[in-house]
Amino acid sequence: MGILANSGSGSSLKFLIYGRTGWIGGLLGQLCQQQGIDFTYGSGRLENRASLEADIAAIKPTHVFNAAGVTGRPNVDWCESHKVETIRTNVVGTLSLADVCRERGLILINYATGCIFEYDSAHPLNSGIGFKEDEIPNFIGSFYSKTKAMVEDLLRNYENVCTLRVRMPISSDLSNPRNFITKITRYEKVVDIPNSMTILDELLPISIEMAKRNLTGIWNFTNPGVVSHNEILEMYKQFIDPNFTWKNFTLEEQAKVIIAPRSNNELDATKLKNEFPELLSIKESLIKYVFKPNQKTSAA
Ligand SMILES: NC(=O)c1ccc[n+]([C@@H]2O[C@H](COP(=O)([O-])OP(=O)(O)OC[C@H]3O[C@@H](n4cnc5c(N)ncnc54)[C@H](OP(=O)(O)O)[C@@H]3O)[C@@H](O)[C@H]2O)c1
Repeated sequence: MGILANSGSGSSLKFLIYGRTGWIGGLLGQLCQQQGIDFTYGSGRLENRASLEADIAAIKPTHVFNAAGVTGRPNVDWCESHKVETIRTNVVGTLSLADVCRERGLILINYATGCIFEYDSAHPLNSGIGFKEDEIPNFIGSFYSKTKAMVEDLLRNYENVCTLRVRMPISSDLSNPRNFITKITRYEKVVDIPNSMTILDELLPISIEMAKRNLTGIWNFTNPGVVSHNEILEMYKQFIDPNFTWKNFTLEEQAKVIIAPRSNNELDATKLKNEFPELLSIKESLIKYVFKPNQKTSAA
C-alpha cells in the first residue's frame, strides 16, 4: 500500500487497484511501480459500497482496476460449496464497484474471465473459429462461471467498464502454483485440449495501455490462437526439463476427479490484435515471455 512518486510517462495518471494480495493485482502494482505510474491499492471490500466510495474520495484516482474476486482455493470447485461467498464478491461486489465508478465518472478496468464459453457446433474444436466479444456465454457448468457470465452480461450496460476476458493465465514465474504451466506440470494426469490463454507478462502492460487510451467494452483478453496442454508440456520439456514426463487422461476421466466441469474454448482475439498489432500469438508469446527467460536446457 502507498502512493508512489510520479515519474515519466505516467505523471498525470493515478490508479486505484483492488486485489493487493492477489496474483494479478500484485503483478499490476509491480508494473505500475516499474513504469512510474502513481497507484494505490484500495483498502475497501468490494461488497461494501461505502468503503469503495471512501477509497475513491481519499485517493481521487483517474482509473480504477479490479483484480479482486474469488476464484476458489485450491480451485474453482470451492465456489460450488461457497455460493453465497462467491455471489458476495463476484456479483454484488463487482457490480457495486462498477456502479460507484460510474457515479464518479471513472473507468473501471475489470479483470474478468473467458471461462464462460465452451466449444460448440458453431465454434468447433480445432476449427479456428473463436467466440467473439458480442457472443452470449454458453458455459455455465460451474457456479464460478455462471456468476461471471451473469455479471458480464449486466456490465454490458455500464459504458464506463472495460471487461477483460482473461483465460488460463500464465506468467514467467514458474514457481507460482497459480500459473497454468506450474499447475499442469504438477498434476498427476492432464487432459489435452487446445485453449485460448493469457500470457500475463505481455498482456498486463497492455491493460495499463488500455486504461491510458480510455478503452471500454468487452475484450477477449487472450493471445491470438490456441495451445494444447501437451504442446505446452512439450515446450516445458524442450526448454526446462528434458526428463519431464506426464500422463494424459480423457475429459470423462477428468470429470471423476473434479466437482464442477471446466470450460475449454477458443476466444477470437482479433479486436485486441487490431488495437495492439504487436500482440504475439499464444505460442510465440509463450516462448518469448515464459520459456526463453526460464530456459535451463541447451535446446534452441
Ligand atoms: N487466476 C485465474 O486462473 C483467473 C482466470 C481468469 C480470470 N481470473 C480473474 O481475475 C481476477 C483476479 O484473479 P487472481 O488470480 O489474481 O485472484 P487471487 O490471486 O485469488 O486474488 C484475489 C484478490 O481479490 C481480493 N478479494 C477477494 N474478495 C474480495 C472482496 N470481497 N473485496 C475486496 N477484495 C477481495 C483478495 O484479497 P483478500 O485476500 O484480502 O480477500 C485478493 O487480493 C479474478 O476476478 C478472477 O476471477 C483469474
